[in-house]
Amino acid sequence: MGLTKEAYEQNYLQFRSLNQIMWQIPVLAMTLTGGLWFGVSTIDDDPLLVSILLLTAFFGNLVLSGVLLRFRHVMGCYLDWLKRADSEGYVNASTVSEAVIFMYRFCNLDKTVRTLFCCMLWWAAACSAIVLVGYWCDRLGDIDLGSSDASVSYYDQHAAALADGYESVSFESAYPYLAQKLGAAARPLHVLDVGAGTGRDASWIADRGHNMVAVDPSQSMLTVAQNLHAESSVAWVQDRLPDLSTTALANASFDMILLNAVWMHIAPQDRDAALARIKSLLRPGGSVFATIRLGPINEERGTYHISAPNFVTDAQAAGFTVVPRGDFPDLLGRPQVSWKAFELTRRDALGDGAE
Ligand SMILES: C[S@@+](CC[C@H](N)C(=O)[O-])C[C@H]1O[C@@H](n2cnc3c(N)ncnc32)[C@H](O)[C@@H]1O
Repeated sequence: MGLTKEAYEQNYLQFRSLNQIMWQIPVLAMTLTGGLWFGVSTIDDDPLLVSILLLTAFFGNLVLSGVLLRFRHVMGCYLDWLKRADSEGYVNASTVSEAVIFMYRFCNLDKTVRTLFCCMLWWAAACSAIVLVGYWCDRLGDIDLGSSDASVSYYDQHAAALADGYESVSFESAYPYLAQKLGAAARPLHVLDVGAGTGRDASWIADRGHNMVAVDPSQSMLTVAQNLHAESSVAWVQDRLPDLSTTALANASFDMILLNAVWMHIAPQDRDAALARIKSLLRPGGSVFATIRLGPINEERGTYHISAPNFVTDAQAAGFTVVPRGDFPDLLGRPQVSWKAFELTRRDALGDGAE
């Protein structure tokens, strides 16, 4: 028994130290996860760091649950040996109780502690993954798609009320440069107004003899526009950026495209496609006039953060030459909102002259 007793004591001590370490794994996991989550909550705008911290929390918990399982397995091997070496003195707590109360039975199942610890670690890993996915959805605009719809439903709901404000400003005072250019045009132009709203601009342009197509995704806005400007010869079309895929525009091309007060409604991931589609609708030698809104975003209205440098970079990348056409205050008097105007022309216009 001399050797067996020594072996027994050695294995028993080994089992005890493994058991002590195993109990530290959940504490380690909680400390790690808490620290990482706190770190995430303090980061303002650093997606890379947020992702690294949350991924560390996700994989950290999974790895620690693997370590826990491994520990418990090795401990089980020691327990088996101890049981075989001294079956009389071995305390067997693994029998399933016959008790009726579920919780009591559950707590007396084999390896309950290990299972509960693992559940906790998997839960922490799942929460980290959910937060990470939610963070990126928010950032990339899974909610952006929703926001784009949010803008349409906002205009659908408030079309009549908004019309008073929009129609209180004349086209000439809103866009004097455009009014002057269109008024002086030597021939009737083909003009597209994207995000035409109440049709104030489209009707003014059509009334000067130009061929006018006005596009807006909001049915209520289109209805208001048609009612207010029933006399004007405008083709009203329900469609939206980035696709503008209605058959009415299938083979169309325009000398001038207006993109006034719309860009803040285009989700970041849709902007390249939107610019490409606008370029495809613009005749060589034609111009796009865009005004972009600078100011706080309004979630209810489905607006996104936009900046003039980003707009210029995106437009240039889409193949436009961009010329600034001035800054102006908000015509509806909102102090925190201001506007920048740009004229975009196709850089390939010369090469495409034969189109
Ligand atoms: C602030 S109003 C601008 C109206 C007009 N262009 C002006 O300058 O007064 C924005 C308009 O953009 C429209 N809009 C929103 N999302 C759009 C999208 N994805 N594509 C085209 N128009 C959109 C809205 O329905 C709304 O009529």
